[in-house]
Amino acid sequence: MHHHDLLIVGSANADLVVAVDRRPAAGETVLGSDLAVHTGGKGANQAVAAARLGARTALLARVGDDDHGRLLLTSLRAAGVDTAGVLVDEAPTGVALIVVDPGGDNSIVVSQGANARLTPDDIRAAGDLLASAPVVSVQLEIPLATVTEVARALAPGARLVLNPSPPAPLPDEVLAVCDPLIVNEHEARVLLGDSAGERPEDWAPALLALGPRSVVVTLGAAGALVAGPDGCERVPSPRVEPVDTTGAGDAFTAALAWRLGRGDDLPRAAAYAARVGSAAVTRKGAQESYPTAEELPGA
Ligand code: RIB
Repeated sequence: MHHHDLLIVGSANADLVVAVDRRPAAGETVLGSDLAVHTGGKGANQAVAAARLGARTALLARVGDDDHGRLLLTSLRAAGVDTAGVLVDEAPTGVALIVVDPGGDNSIVVSQGANARLTPDDIRAAGDLLASAPVVSVQLEIPLATVTEVARALAPGARLVLNPSPPAPLPDEVLAVCDPLIVNEHEARVLLGDSAGERPEDWAPALLALGPRSVVVTLGAAGALVAGPDGCERVPSPRVEPVDTTGAGDAFTAALAWRLGRGDDLPRAAAYAARVGSAAVTRKGAQESYPTAEELPGA
């Protein structure tokens, strides 16, 4: 019997957000809105998104002993996330500097802070937590060595979901246990390098050839491609008017990971996740934008 439906191992950031008419080019200064501080970080975002939907969720992460860290812990606990695995570090809480344009698109710079101090030893010390959930979800705002240790320390039968964001070359032993590897268009191009063609339909099989058991390519408003041993299919996304896309990918990944753990097959889990991701882009911020199951259109 698992204590949790989902374990997230990942980052927690304070998101410092400014709305701009146009995101600046190199060397350019633009004026923007008043600063807004939101709770974020790809790991914490996934944890809050899953918990809001009703998943029993735990987070393994590091935050600083500072106001941003306390803000994050408050947000996580309010959503119902088990924060026993959130360690408090001497380093400052991670910070993401985010500019959002009127179309809802963003540019993000992350100062990792305490996230960079989540070590392989932390994973080895968290054996009970790793054994507590059927699905473990990771991203790359923590050290790659830590992600690799998660892949090695998976409990028997546990499923690893990896969103390689920000993208980096992945060791074969990590790729081999991803089920699925979830990438957006940018991440797919980075992982495939020069061999990436122009058509997303070509990326899914090329990504599968890198070694993961299954692949999801998210395509924003165009939905997602899901691919595994049985072939590749497109899952549509509900039409919405985007306000802020920040953290929508994290909500998608969390929803998909949770539904896989509940027994959905990949296309069905991705269809549910697309509804969650679409709802998240209709509101500002990352964690604040995530729907409950009751708020999902068509629920
Ligand atoms: O995916 C969105 C997240 O990326 C933001 O919340 C920010 O913290 C960065 O980690």
